[in-house]
Amino acid sequence: MTAEADFRSLAARWRSSARWTVVTGAGVSAASGVPTFRSSDGLWENFRPEELATPEAFSRDPRRVWEWYDWRRQKIAAARPNRAHEVLASWSQRQTGFRLITQNVDGLHERAGTARVIRFHGSIWDIRCVNSCGGAGSRWTDTRAPLPEIPVRCPDCRGLARPGVVWFGEAIGAEALAEAQEALECDVCLVVGTSSVVYPAAGLASQARQRGAWTVEINPEPGAADVDLVIAGKAEEVLDKIDSLIH
Ligand code: OAD
Repeated sequence: MTAEADFRSLAARWRSSARWTVVTGAGVSAASGVPTFRSSDGLWENFRPEELATPEAFSRDPRRVWEWYDWRRQKIAAARPNRAHEVLASWSQRQTGFRLITQNVDGLHERAGTARVIRFHGSIWDIRCVNSCGGAGSRWTDTRAPLPEIPVRCPDCRGLARPGVVWFGEAIGAEALAEAQEALECDVCLVVGTSSVVYPAAGLASQARQRGAWTVEINPEPGAADVDLVIAGKAEEVLDKIDSLIH
């Protein structure tokens, strides 16, 4: 149980700051019913994400990779933002110095109304032609779940299309990377609901800390992030409590 004093010192820091950055991972969406990646219910047919979310897995078996994404898309389509998403959305609307970097591709931060979301790993609703054929329709958004055709094909060249997410071994989008670097220039950085094992996202909190930010990890099973303060608890409960202390 985290001491009340920790919450009070976080609230005091928060109130005296002008730039706040929150880094989120799959744990923020757990209370919405979206399986995290590294829990037992997050595994799909016993595959680890590292075995499916790669360009190699996709070239070997695009149907299987698409089936996994279709399964996730259906879980997400049935989900609604939870209290953690709501609190973060309200902070983003009230405070111009607030930034949110998310590893999540589910779009729940956006659905909750969060402003200026920096999507580090892309969006599960975006699709693009694998051949980068350059046709007018070779990048698009499709929110249908389940998808009518698997594997998905490019409407222009009829070649394979893939989810618009960042896979293992691929580079983070240049725009997201630049925006994230800017967001790490902050006074307080919360890292919420991530196992902090997938780089470069896993290094964001320690980069913020090196640049002088006071950093806090919020996670029911904390310990992975390099931070100044750990609050062991669920995002939806801890963020709600912080919100009640700062407003
Ligand atoms: P993980 O599944 O690795 O970790 C989820 C974390 O959430 C764990 O540390 C849990 O303890 C924590 N957690 C569970 N319930 C929670 C709750 N209610 N509140 C707060 N925390 C909770 O997910 P990520 O760290 O996000 O990549 O995974 C990183 C990346 O690996 C993902 O972005 C994804 C995956 O491969 C891509 O999609 C490219």
